Amino acid sequence: MHHVLALALLGASQAYAACTRAFLQEAAALYLKAIDLGQPSVLPLTAATTYGENDVVLPIAGNASVFAAPIKVDFSRSLLDTTQCATFTELTSTQPSHPYVIHTQIFYDTTTSPAAPTISKIQSVVSDAGDWLFNATAFLQWTTYETWSAIPPALLDTRSTIKAAGDAYLDQWGNVSHPVPFATACSRLEGGLYTGARNLTGNSCPMGAFPSPLNITRRRYVIDEELGAMDIFNDFPFLESSYPLDKATPSSNLFRVEKGLIRYIHEVSVCATKNCGR
Ligand SMILES: *[C@@H]1O[C@H](CO)[C@@H](O)[C@H](O)[C@H]1NC(C)=O
Ligand SMILES: *[C@@H]1O[C@H](CO)[C@@H](O)[C@H](O)[C@H]1NC(C)=O
Ligand SMILES: *[C@@H]1O[C@H](CO)[C@@H](O)[C@H](O)[C@H]1NC(C)=O
Ligand SMILES: *[C@@H]1O[C@H](CO)[C@@H](O)[C@H](O)[C@H]1NC(C)=O
Ligand SMILES: *[C@@H]1O[C@H](CO)[C@@H](O)[C@H](O)[C@H]1NC(C)=O
Repeated sequence: MHHVLALALLGASQAYAACTRAFLQEAAALYLKAIDLGQPSVLPLTAATTYGENDVVLPIAGNASVFAAPIKVDFSRSLLDTTQCATFTELTSTQPSHPYVIHTQIFYDTTTSPAAPTISKIQSVVSDAGDWLFNATAFLQWTTYETWSAIPPALLDTRSTIKAAGDAYLDQWGNVSHPVPFATACSRLEGGLYTGARNLTGNSCPMGAFPSPLNITRRRYVIDEELGAMDIFNDFPFLESSYPLDKATPSSNLFRVEKGLIRYIHEVSVCATKNCGR
């Protein structure tokens, strides 16, 4: 209740203002509260809110949703996107009962009720045991090792620079010659695998070529310029070996970009068979 009230008051005090970082900060905190309690009802939902996990539409309050039981979150990062009025949260839970790494994009409706924006859409990529290289303990260890502090104002990249860097990474999966702006150092955390373990000061991000070019489609973005960060939900063909080549599995790539160059990548991908049959 306290948080709902705080959110409403925060909205009211900025009536008709554009979506602010202060609003989104509170909104991301409220999402984590709902996860912690297993109570989606604390969120500003409406009858029109859509909810989906791994591309499956679900009742958010139903027993198949991740809100069905409280989740003890060890660590999280949130991106605030004032342009779209959206948040992205990556959460890691090593709780023995059910470890998770969850990526969630939440979009707010600021037109129906500008004084108190409501949630229009929540979509999550939910990974747990058996998903691609899944190991929440290792994920936690490496994500907390990394530095994702605010970019100094003089070094801020534009939204389009950040977007171009992440898009280039995915575009290269369709064309090995496509240049990708990797930094040195660059590390990728993929499930529980950390490429940086090979060399923390080197660029271990480049991908080898796939057996055939992959077209990564249905890209859905949340971008936070102040954090130099972007998340892209996307369809990842090929990875799940039990699928035909034209069928994709839900995936999310989170990027940290510094001076136009990719510093970190976190990939969370869902498998239909254990470790995508690989
Ligand atoms: C989950 O909810 C569905 C629909 O309400 C119900 O039929 C089913 O028995 C429930 N399953 C469990 C394990 O509670
Ligand atoms: C998961 O990662 C942790 C920390 O790196 C490691 O100790 C553990 O053996 C890993 N578990 C599995 C099943 O690989
Ligand atoms: C692949 O990328 C290279 C470098 O940007 C470009 O010259 C080439 O035209 C691209 N190939 C295709 C098939 O798009
Ligand atoms: C790690 O990467 C840095 C930067 O590219 C390089 O100078 C160094 O030799 C690498 N270390 C190892 C052990 O490969
Ligand atoms: C990738 O797929 C999209 C959407 O289906 C399509 O518009 C685009 O032309 C495709 N690109 C390539 C290189 O095949």
